Amino acid sequence: MYNTLGPVLCLSFFIISGATKSNIKRVSVDIGKNVTIQCPLHKTKDVMWEREGRTADENIKMNVLENGSLFLQEVDRNDSAIYSCIRENDVKDIRGRVNVTVKTPPPPLVVSIKPSTILALILWDVKGTGGYPIVNFTAQYRLAYSNTSWIPISPNHITPNSRQVEVYNLIPNTTYEFRIWATNQLGKSPIVNVFGTTRNHYPERELARHLLEGADKFDTRWWAVAVGIVMGTLVLLGIGTCALLYQECKTPTVEEEQEVIELVPNIILNPGFEGTAANRTEPDENSNNENPMRLNNNTVVQPRNV
Ligand SMILES: *[C@@H]1O[C@H](CO)[C@@H](O)[C@H](O)[C@H]1NC(C)=O
Ligand SMILES: *[C@@H]1O[C@H](CO)[C@@H](O)[C@H](O)[C@H]1NC(C)=O
Ligand SMILES: *[C@@H]1O[C@H](CO)[C@@H](O)[C@H](O)[C@H]1NC(C)=O
Ligand SMILES: *[C@@H]1O[C@H](CO)[C@@H](O)[C@H](O)[C@H]1NC(C)=O
Ligand SMILES: *[C@@H]1O[C@H](CO)[C@@H](O)[C@H](O)[C@H]1NC(C)=O
Ligand SMILES: *[C@@H]1O[C@H](CO)[C@@H](O)[C@H](O)[C@H]1NC(C)=O
Ligand SMILES: *[C@@H]1O[C@H](CO)[C@@H](O)[C@H](O)[C@H]1NC(C)=O
Repeated sequence: MYNTLGPVLCLSFFIISGATKSNIKRVSVDIGKNVTIQCPLHKTKDVMWEREGRTADENIKMNVLENGSLFLQEVDRNDSAIYSCIRENDVKDIRGRVNVTVKTPPPPLVVSIKPSTILALILWDVKGTGGYPIVNFTAQYRLAYSNTSWIPISPNHITPNSRQVEVYNLIPNTTYEFRIWATNQLGKSPIVNVFGTTRNHYPERELARHLLEGADKFDTRWWAVAVGIVMGTLVLLGIGTCALLYQECKTPTVEEEQEVIELVPNIILNPGFEGTAANRTEPDENSNNENPMRLNNNTVVQPRNV
């Protein structure tokens, strides 16, 4: 008797711990759809369903089908929850758990406006996608409190990776209303409206502000790195030059003198100088030759030594 009970208890413990940890079945459903959820553990019709985090009274309203499946009708976003099922009249508390996620259009964006004199920057952040990727954003603007029609902000199709867009051609010192929303395959997020007032026209001050903005962002460490590189190069050049000078002072050899002679190009005081005698060629019918030609007393044009 005890021999058989031991393994059974062990087995049930295993099932319980498994069910409460990793064995949560996942079900996702689009908002407004009906969904039938089968109990992942008990394939019988005598099953009770609970929504976790709710009192027993609230759970009485659960719509359980004849075959024991849970039926959620036209789900709303607040139907996202963990649902668990237990066998009726069972002393052992063995639960099957199902994580139901309702997919929705994206939640509202978090929007801010940075107006300057004639343009404004709309910045936004997403707080989730609703379950499907965002397809695009749409942004529009108009004069505030005017009830005129909305003007689209180009590009009309703002790509899903964008988090900002600029509005051009605004009038200084004027309040505008901006609105923006995200779209996924289930539809539009709630629209967020934000007001922003452009600044007065103070071109010099604007310019100064922009310059200072740049200075603020500039990292002084880069200066240090640049100066370091330049100084390092100068030091290396200095050392190299010193080394060369030292070497030349130390070895004023015959080689050096020969080099000096070779450095005098094409202008040679000695008319007899030639590379090799073998290079001498006879003039052809056009009087073209490859021999030195005397231009005046001091200058001799040498043929190239190939
Ligand atoms: C959901 O189920 C209810 C009741 O069975 C039915 O009236 C309704 O048409 C269903 N809705 C959808 C979207 O299937
Ligand atoms: C239970 O019944 C519903 C509707 O009658 C059905 O959609 C579902 O597949 C059934 N579940 C099982 C496990 O048979
Ligand atoms: C869920 O949302 C629906 C419709 O918005 C509402 O009628 C219902 O009371 C809400 N339920 C809970 C538990 O908040
Ligand atoms: C339920 O699933 C959603 C995503 O599908 C996840 O974010 C959430 O943490 C899950 N909840 C539990 C309790 O596992
Ligand atoms: C704004 O315009 C709409 C239609 O374009 C109109 O129905 C509404 O009454 C107007 N509101 C005001 C305050 O003018
Ligand atoms: C955004 O995407 C939706 C869904 O694909 C589409 O209907 C809509 O026209 C798009 N909007 C813009 C401004 O491109
Ligand atoms: C800016 O607009 C406000 C209110 O519209 C007005 O009182 C103010 O005189 C304007 N300032 C300038 C410099 O135009």
